[in-house]
Amino acid sequence: MTILHSIDELKNQFDTDVLNGKPDKDAFEEIKRKYTSRKGKIAELFAQLGSADPDIRPEAGKALNELKEYITIKLDGLSAVVSDNTEVTAADQLDLTLSGDPFPVGSIHPLTKVIEEITTIFTKLGFSLAYGPEIDTDFYNFEALNILKHHPARDMQDTFYVTDDVVLRTHTSNNQIHMMENHDPPIKVIAPGRVYRNEDVSVRSYCLFHQIEGLYVDKNVSMADLKGVLNYFAREFFGKNVKTRFRPSYFPFTEPSAEMDVSCYFCSQNGCNICKYTGWLEILGCGMVDPEVFKSVGYDPDIWSGYAFGMGIERMAMQRYGIEDIRMFYEGDIRFLRQF
Ligand code: DAH
Repeated sequence: MTILHSIDELKNQFDTDVLNGKPDKDAFEEIKRKYTSRKGKIAELFAQLGSADPDIRPEAGKALNELKEYITIKLDGLSAVVSDNTEVTAADQLDLTLSGDPFPVGSIHPLTKVIEEITTIFTKLGFSLAYGPEIDTDFYNFEALNILKHHPARDMQDTFYVTDDVVLRTHTSNNQIHMMENHDPPIKVIAPGRVYRNEDVSVRSYCLFHQIEGLYVDKNVSMADLKGVLNYFAREFFGKNVKTRFRPSYFPFTEPSAEMDVSCYFCSQNGCNICKYTGWLEILGCGMVDPEVFKSVGYDPDIWSGYAFGMGIERMAMQRYGIEDIRMFYEGDIRFLRQF
């Protein structure tokens, strides 16, 4: 019998021992000793290797090393399931074909979902995406947007001041200025992000929330372009049957300015406390970029015209998912978040 046969035989013997033995701790130790100790079966064959026929020696060496590895791995697996004096059945042995335990997978936050949905709609219309700073100077958040110091419009937004000159941005409109400062027209961009206001926390307002700013600057841009884009957006986001209306409004950085309302999702315009029995929900402010804003970034208002809009994300997410309390978005309650 050649050493190759002996190796084969040893493997068969080991398999039989392991399968039939149902090893408890003692039996397992015995098997381990029998095969892997210094005077065990494997060592014995290694010792014979030196006197084996030189023609088959390399092959035999390789086979023996493989068998040693095979036995070591098998025994390692088995050592995990043998315990003191308990019998191990075949069923207790590791079954590598079992699928793993499922682990919980998180869900996407509803605000993230809504932001992604909205940005997708606008990118299809050719808008690109930009981000700006959440901590910004008075100039970008107010001054360059034609909200001058001591102007009563500053009262519209209760501001968190970091220093006299630095604020937590109260709206994403600061991005308009950054965009125009850094790029020559034409510009077609949307900029989502967090904004902060020092407001009393309630069902409808929170000290931080999210907005998406839109800005389009080119030659001959008109209010009709603005209405067309926003109506398209409303139908894509809220569904074909949504109604929209534009109300005249005032923002220092747009002239003329408007606010857009959409028909109330909760009551189908029959009147409810969400829309305060008006049948309408206000979702965004918009208008034609004021020439003063163009001047503050060095654009010539005689050449360039543009529109801007800014929408609150929370409002839209509440409308979309029927959420009645804005605070739910920030509490991290897993029962709430799992629903999305
Ligand atoms: N920044 C305004 C706010 O936070 C919203 C807004 C109004 C943005 C009109 C605009 C705009 O770009 O044109 O209330």
